[in-house]
Amino acid sequence: MNDPHQQDIASHIHPQSNLNNHEHTGPMIMSHGEGVHVFDHAGNKYIDAVAGLWCASLGYSDQALIDAATRQLKQLPYFQTSASKSNEPAIELASRLLAMAPVPMSKVLFQNSGSEAIDTAMKLVWYYQNIRGKPMKKKIISRRQGYHGTSVAAASLTGLAGMHKHFDLPIAGIIHVDCPHYYRSGNKGETELEYASRCISAIEQEIIEQGAETIAAFFAEPIMGTGGVIVPPQSYFEKLHGVLKKYDILLVADEVICGFGRTGSTWGSQTVGMVPDMITCAKALSSAYMPISALMISDDIYQKLKSGSDDVGVFGHGYTYSGHPVCAAVALETLKQYENRNLFEHIRVVAPGLQEGLREFRDHPLVGEVRGVGLMAGLELVQDKATKQSFDPALKMGARVAAHAETKGVIVRALGDTLVFAPPFIITESQIVEVVQVIGQALDDTLHELTGDQLKIS
Ligand SMILES: Cc1ncc(COP(=O)(O)O)c(C=O)c1O
Repeated sequence: MNDPHQQDIASHIHPQSNLNNHEHTGPMIMSHGEGVHVFDHAGNKYIDAVAGLWCASLGYSDQALIDAATRQLKQLPYFQTSASKSNEPAIELASRLLAMAPVPMSKVLFQNSGSEAIDTAMKLVWYYQNIRGKPMKKKIISRRQGYHGTSVAAASLTGLAGMHKHFDLPIAGIIHVDCPHYYRSGNKGETELEYASRCISAIEQEIIEQGAETIAAFFAEPIMGTGGVIVPPQSYFEKLHGVLKKYDILLVADEVICGFGRTGSTWGSQTVGMVPDMITCAKALSSAYMPISALMISDDIYQKLKSGSDDVGVFGHGYTYSGHPVCAAVALETLKQYENRNLFEHIRVVAPGLQEGLREFRDHPLVGEVRGVGLMAGLELVQDKATKQSFDPALKMGARVAAHAETKGVIVRALGDTLVFAPPFIITESQIVEVVQVIGQALDDTLHELTGDQLKIS
């Protein structure tokens, strides 16, 4: 057999990877997983402290999920949900999601990925505004540093330059407002509450300048994930609601990362006090064992969609694999596992070990801020602790710390110079201790590599 590294380089484009570097480094190839551990091609064992891409919530060898998929594959491997056809797992999953929702929701639409859930939400926002006689109300607000996926619509909402440049994105009608990061943007002497008020005033100002009659919806992650685990300042969403209500703007909670216990509550919306009109979820919905996402919508929105059918004759949206029975069966089993194993409570028990353990590094010369909630954390590296000056990106500090951690058996993700942590929900207290210890060693190893003026210790 050919060398798989060479084959990969010759044949495969990897998402969110540097294509030039990949030709030199090749891929890290995983061969199997067991609980929170994954094993690479060479037999090295790692704790996956990011659960893949914040998603493999039940770890890598959950027999109940494997059985659920196998049973459903044998019984009915596929049937569409278009044209009023259905299947039992999709029906049961939709009901279960509605029963779990953080605020009353009326109906569920299924997709295959977070990006598709966001695309669907965007289309429904436009459809809704047209049907209620507000065809001018079309612009959508999202936030810099927010991440909503990479399809044309989702990438447009994403507030990261690397997702736009040379792709002719964002599309028209998207407004990016500031990322509410108190550590980075709070003024000297300003309290978190004052900072939140300033953020919301700036959003209101933007709405007024754009014309409230042109703004349809505000999309936000409860806690930003890929932007570097940014927890909003206290009272941010509470204050935002007032403004959105005043100007008749919908709120869409992107719970693709935060949903299903990740932040210590069932939904991130509950952790940060969001009251959304629509909710997207994916990732931990099926513990990533099968691709599935869901969009929940309020009754007000559903009633408008219904009247659209009278007009158009059909609800003209959906995918071949919407409500795929195998994906739905695995998602249903995932939700049952969360409940049967009391995993949301387990998260509340073990999360302080991660949050407090990482906060021990606040005094480390390389560390600027440690932030997060539940099993979701970010550790930001800075060159100068006093001024919060970042490192020269060319030093690739985040990637260096992550590489050191990897050699010691822990996978973390470096998003720029922020290391992010989102371990499987099944992680134990002692495995968290191991992760924290390895990160401490990786920080020290990286520190010792730096020379003179690369670090300004203050
Ligand atoms: C908050 C959020 N929304 C949407 C997405 C897009 O999901 P997908 O990659 O499944 O399209 C992601 C992916 O990481 C995400 O974190």
